Amino acid sequence: MELIEKVAEMQRRVKTWREAGETVALVPTMGAFHDGHLSLMEQAKAHADRVVVSLFINPAQFGPQEDFDKYPRDFDRDRGLAEEMSIDVLFCPEIRDMYPLGFQTSVSVPILAKKLEGASRPGHFRGVCTVVLKLFNLCQPHVALFGWKDAQQFIILCHMVRDLNLQIRMVGIPTVREKDGLAMSSRNRRLTPEQREQAVCLSRALRRVHYLVKDQGIVHTGELLQAMRSIIRSADQAELDYAAIVSRSTLDPLDIVEKGNTLVALAVRFGEVRLIDNTRL
Ligand code: PAF
Repeated sequence: MELIEKVAEMQRRVKTWREAGETVALVPTMGAFHDGHLSLMEQAKAHADRVVVSLFINPAQFGPQEDFDKYPRDFDRDRGLAEEMSIDVLFCPEIRDMYPLGFQTSVSVPILAKKLEGASRPGHFRGVCTVVLKLFNLCQPHVALFGWKDAQQFIILCHMVRDLNLQIRMVGIPTVREKDGLAMSSRNRRLTPEQREQAVCLSRALRRVHYLVKDQGIVHTGELLQAMRSIIRSADQAELDYAAIVSRSTLDPLDIVEKGNTLVALAVRFGEVRLIDNTRL
C-alpha cells in the first residue's frame, strides 16, 4: 500500500492507472476505521482493479458547535488496518492542500440537504458534497462506495452525481453492526459505558418497525413512529432528535409506507454524542 499526501501526486497516480486501462474504486472516509470501513474496503476490491481509500477529516462539514476537534484521530492504527486490507493507496491530503488560501467554491443539493440531518446541521451536506466532488476529481474513480449508515448522505451524493453527469457508479453498502445491534460508528467510542448500553435503543426501535410492518402488516407511519419514540423514551440517557419515516427519493415524510421507497431514520443524543441509524423498507 502506498501512502499519498499530496493532491498532485494522487492525480499523477490515478492518471497512470487509467492510461493502463485499469479501473479505480474510491472509498471516502474520515478515518477512525471500524469494521464498517473495512467492509467498504473489502467490497471495493470486487468493483475495480485499484482501490483508493481517502482519509480526510473535512472541517467544512462540521458546524462551529460540532465535534471537529473531538473527532477521533488514530492515524497509525488506521494506516495499519488499511495496509492489512491490501488497498492500493491511502490518500491523506492536508487541509491546506485541499482548501488552499482563497478557496471559495461549494456544491450543494439544497432541497434534500435541508431535510432530516440538515435541520440540525445546517451547511453539513454542502461541506460533504464539496469535499466528495473534490475527491472524485482528484481520484477519478469509476466507482465510489459509501455506507447506508449515512443514508441521507448517500442519497444526496447520488443526486449530485446524477445532476452533474458524473460518470461514477455509486454503490451503497449495508450498515455493519455490533453484536447487540448498535450501528458501527466512529462516535460510539465517545459513549460512556452506560450510554453505550442504552444506545442499542436505536437499532431496537428500527427492528420493531420492521416487525410491525412485515409481521403485523402495519403501514400507517403515525403508529410506527409512536412505537419508535416509546422505545427511545425507555432509555433515560437518550434524547430523541428526530424519528422520521420518509420517501427515499425526496426525503419527504410519508403517511403510508411505500414498499421499496421508504427510509426510517433516527437521530438520538447521548450527552454530547449524537448517533444516527436507519433502515429501509
Ligand atoms: O461519511 C464520511 O465519513 C464523510 O462524510 C465523507 C463521505 C468521507 C466526506 O467527508
